[in-house]
Amino acid sequence: MSDVSLRITDRNGVLFEVEAPTDMNMSLMEIIRAYAIAEDGEIGVCGGMAMCGSCQCYILNNTPLPPIGAEEEAMLFETSYTKENSRLGCQIPITEDLNGLEVELAPYP
Ligand code: FES
Repeated sequence: MSDVSLRITDRNGVLFEVEAPTDMNMSLMEIIRAYAIAEDGEIGVCGGMAMCGSCQCYILNNTPLPPIGAEEEAMLFETSYTKENSRLGCQIPITEDLNGLEVELAPYP
């Protein structure tokens, strides 16, 4: 499998169903940016370094995800609008495990 299907709800409540390649070394944040699901300049502001919080997503189903790293945990602690199911999209690489993942973009911090 080289593509996975993702369901991403934008900051206005609009649902996008997108295909994401698993072989291009992309993160969930980069997919959101590539499909222009968030306003330009309001996603991936730090370039994916876990330093801005602009890529925060709420995870809506129980698709297996990589564990939260120390930098991601620290950023989620600092940024606004976090919930129990918050993750940083830039810290989630697109892999085959993500097929069927459903997320909602958190408000811009
Ligand atoms: S892009 Fe900045 S924290 Fe993810």
